[in-house]
Amino acid sequence: MTRYSRITGTGSYLPPRRVTNAELAAELSGRGIETSDEWIVERTGIRARHFAAPDVTASDLGAQAARQALDAAGLPASQIDLIIVATSTPDMVFPSAACILQNKLGIAGCAAFDVQAVCSGFVYALTIADSMIRCGAARKALVIGSEVFSRILDFDDRTTCVLFGDGAGAVVLEESDTPGILASDLHADGKHVGILCVPGSVSGGKVTGTPLLKMDGQAVFKLAVGVLESAARATLAKAGKTEADIDWLIPHQANIRIMQGTAKKLKLPMEKLVVTVDQHGNTSAASIPLALDAAVRAGNVKKGDTLMLEGVGGGFTWGAVLLDF
Ligand code: UT7
Repeated sequence: MTRYSRITGTGSYLPPRRVTNAELAAELSGRGIETSDEWIVERTGIRARHFAAPDVTASDLGAQAARQALDAAGLPASQIDLIIVATSTPDMVFPSAACILQNKLGIAGCAAFDVQAVCSGFVYALTIADSMIRCGAARKALVIGSEVFSRILDFDDRTTCVLFGDGAGAVVLEESDTPGILASDLHADGKHVGILCVPGSVSGGKVTGTPLLKMDGQAVFKLAVGVLESAARATLAKAGKTEADIDWLIPHQANIRIMQGTAKKLKLPMEKLVVTVDQHGNTSAASIPLALDAAVRAGNVKKGDTLMLEGVGGGFTWGAVLLDF
């Protein structure tokens, strides 16, 4: 019997503090930084984002999303045998957010680790979990994207601090006789490290470098549109499918213009594009599972639909996963 993996439940969690563009602009104005709702909406499509309280961590947000996904799958946490958390903003240098989250779910013993591929983290994590299930190393996995990007934003840099938000999304991925995940395609190109990074680290008890997000937005924009198209096409080819088979495109939610550009290149009507960037901002590795869960709970994504998930971000990393929901 060929073994496959299939999503059996989705969940998400947003911290309660919702900050509109107007509220953020007013806060920034107090620091002498000028921006406006008009600029942010026109250039990015973002209208609001959520920020976590100072004592709330990626594992806290991720555990809430995971509980919801387990409920949706009708599965007790005790049956999970693999936890992967995609995050670039973990609770600590180590141990992983996944280990901390495992304990918060009240379970022990199963494999748990983090994946660090920035905004492509969720498609990387989903591909790893799928591979582990298909080869028999796991049967029931929790795959989570969770971020508190507000911790690494430079609120004196208006070109980045208006773009990002906090949140978490999760899926339960289970062994199945039928697919499930149809194909995936992952890439990285380390020569682009400098265009999107947090160039700080810990050394000798001190932070060295700058532990705040730096981005060359235009360079990222140009690369993103090209690689999102090529990853989608490569994934479709691996699965023996075409664009016409896609019911929903769920790309990383960074900028509505990038998302619309990708849909257009794939000749998909805008009605097939799942959009949450307006309400969540860019939540990095959390954005795809957050968007997926929102679309499932809104009744848009239904059982049997074919979904194209796509991530792109720091590294530079990019990739796609095609699946039957
Ligand atoms: O998650 C990983 C993936 N990340 C991304 O996909 C991000 C990709 N990049 C982008 O989404 C866009 O490049 C940005 C949204 C970051 C910027 O949009 P843009 O259309 O590329 O704007 P720009 O950088 O060309 O800036 C245009 C103008 C500049 O002023 P001048 O030089 O024309 O006078 C900026 O100084 O907008 C100015 N500007 C702002 N004005 C008001 C930059 N940020 C702001 C701001 N408010 N927050």
